[in-house]
Amino acid sequence: MSQAVVETESKANAEKVWWRDAVTYQIYIRSFSDASGDGVGDIQGIINRLGYLKDLGVDAIWITPWYPSPQHDNGYDVADFMDINPEYGDLGAAQELIEKAHEHGIRIIIDIVPNHSSNEHKWFQDAIESTPDSVERARYLFRDGKGEFGEEPPNNWQSVFGGLAWTRISEQDGELGQWYCHIFAPEQPDFNWDNADIRNHFLDVLKFWLDRGVDGFRVDVAHGLVKAEGLPDAPFQEHLGLLDSRAFPYWDQEGVHEIYREWRKLLDSYSGQRMAVSEAWVNPPSRSALYVRPDELANTFNFDFLTVKWGRDSLKASIDRSIEGMAEVGAPVTWVLNNHDVVRSVNRLEMDFILGSGTFDHERANQRARSAAMLMVCLPGAIFLYQGEELGLPEVLDIPVERLQDPIWRMSGNKERGRDGCRVPLPWHDSPHGAFGFSTNVEVTPESSWLPQPADWGRFSAQEQEKSAGSMLNLYRNALAIRKSNAALASLHFDWIQSSDKSLVFSRSDGNTFICVVTFESGESVPPGYQIIMSSQDIVSGQIPPNTTVWLQRAKH
Ligand code: NOJ
Repeated sequence: MSQAVVETESKANAEKVWWRDAVTYQIYIRSFSDASGDGVGDIQGIINRLGYLKDLGVDAIWITPWYPSPQHDNGYDVADFMDINPEYGDLGAAQELIEKAHEHGIRIIIDIVPNHSSNEHKWFQDAIESTPDSVERARYLFRDGKGEFGEEPPNNWQSVFGGLAWTRISEQDGELGQWYCHIFAPEQPDFNWDNADIRNHFLDVLKFWLDRGVDGFRVDVAHGLVKAEGLPDAPFQEHLGLLDSRAFPYWDQEGVHEIYREWRKLLDSYSGQRMAVSEAWVNPPSRSALYVRPDELANTFNFDFLTVKWGRDSLKASIDRSIEGMAEVGAPVTWVLNNHDVVRSVNRLEMDFILGSGTFDHERANQRARSAAMLMVCLPGAIFLYQGEELGLPEVLDIPVERLQDPIWRMSGNKERGRDGCRVPLPWHDSPHGAFGFSTNVEVTPESSWLPQPADWGRFSAQEQEKSAGSMLNLYRNALAIRKSNAALASLHFDWIQSSDKSLVFSRSDGNTFICVVTFESGESVPPGYQIIMSSQDIVSGQIPPNTTVWLQRAKH
């Protein structure tokens, strides 16, 4: 074990913070469970499923934005940071969920969206009704345009979703006037984080929810809040996607860290180990590590691993970069294989298909997703699961275009379908009534839920998978239970063991008593002296098939 890892381990053990190795389950609230019967998920739906989450073995849940919102980006356009979208419930329901989750031993992380608000937020409405030099405009990034009549945008920035990152408004006299910046949709104006109102407001927002008992926050676009001085042109004027982590004047500026240091002080002033996890698409992991220095946030999603191609060398290199990068600051790695912004791992790990070439091998895709899940659960640090990952849901690739909701579809000029394929409502049982159990209302059908479900969605349902020992759901349940009960997996110990080029092998304990083998080709066998704890495929006569992860313990004599 390297010295850096040893130091990380002793520091983390000294503090025993819960987020170091927690398993958090991401709930995309619109698609999780609908108790009100309107075809849209809600807070009561989550309360009803707490038993399922407990049985799955998660330590915490992260709930995507539940605030009042016109839903131009499914809640990432927030109109009021201190209230609940009536479609989802109200503050009373939120309080009940926080308390009931705690009764189940599950912590709650809520999404906070500090980079931008909705254009229906009162402050933005005030801003467009005010004059260019007003205090109201100063809360957002309004600028005069370039060109003789201000007809050109203030700089060359492009929106992540497509098109310009600037929209021009009409002033009170009806004439075209200033432009405002929106790194995402025009309905998501960026805040000006140099403005004291914004800094103070978000401290109040954090307190508002901390006082109600939430355990933490997932910080949306954590690397975007501060823009480079003077809003200079980007080095290239091309459309960049959400996952693009190249250096831009609006990503990963030094100034963001001061904000998180202030937030950390506030979090630490509360009892109960409150935390925050950052969504920062920055590269390499040593750069994302800056967000989790000891006086900043607790976790940061490790997107290096999320975006890695399936393969021996690529996975090994990503795991090394991740562990070494985080060890520099003594923070845990936060592993993630899926979220609501990326193609589901079942499809993604068959990259050829996604890129439009090659054939999609369903069986191999499923094997890889199972193997990747067991690999991730075996790695040292924290993990985040995304709803439906435990059911092995595939990406839905054929949502009719007239049903697509993601603003990317519209803003890319109908060129990119966007992220709806990983956001389809969950199937809970195999009958199409109530959209496979997604809704308590039997009149809601697979076609009428807010995003349509495929006709065969029921075969992935939780109820069906409970019946089958070899299902993906049971793989996750078993793996998480072993992770919780096995001392090796609770440690931060990690060592590569020399292996053939057909596999990766690593140890999670002193003396290699607990090891993990991941195969990429056939020809690997169970090493002598070890017994199988769990494996992602059946192992016959000691031969490990390709695309398989096996956990092994040294046999006791
Ligand atoms: C990142 C979120 O994960 C994504 O869904 C959203 O569209 C953007 N931030 C904008 O808030």
